[in-house]
Amino acid sequence: MSATRHIVLVGLMGAGKSSVGRLVAAALELEFVDTDDLVAKGEGRSVPELFAERGEAHFRGLELDALRGELGSEIPSVVATGGGVVTTAEGRALLSGHHPVILLDVSPEVAARRVGDGRNRPLLAGNPLEKLTELAAERRASYLEVADHVVEVDDRSPGQVVGALVELLGAAA
Ligand code: S3P
Repeated sequence: MSATRHIVLVGLMGAGKSSVGRLVAAALELEFVDTDDLVAKGEGRSVPELFAERGEAHFRGLELDALRGELGSEIPSVVATGGGVVTTAEGRALLSGHHPVILLDVSPEVAARRVGDGRNRPLLAGNPLEKLTELAAERRASYLEVADHVVEVDDRSPGQVVGALVELLGAAA
């Protein structure tokens, strides 16, 4: 019996995990799931509200539960994770034991251009480029640790990233 397939996308905020993930899911005729949405729906609060009211550590627990639940589901899917899922040892362990995990590798500069003023992203308040540069430095090794594949996104359009992912997944199947 083969395990149900869940294709997991990781990477910094602004890497395109949700937008690309949605398109890859459509191309592969799979469900698309975003763990931020699962958490927000489950709690009846937006991610910024959860950060403000309950704090980041509480959010990380909810995020991990959402990811674990999704990876255990019988319905194959493409899963966009929140950029900070690799910041906990539990998150890294869960992802390290799962395949395939794909890192959408974006530079802080391109990510900052994409997220604009960082609204709805509590960790980017103030100066998104500065925050993204710090987060990229802190997290890069963790993203690489959990990823089976790395897809560069800086010089690619969303459509090209989708094409690269579909090709990669086809080759890895
Ligand atoms: C976060 C990324 C966000 C969201 C939260 C924290 C992070 O998700 O989970 O604001 O720590 O990188 P996206 O990566 O989908 O923006």
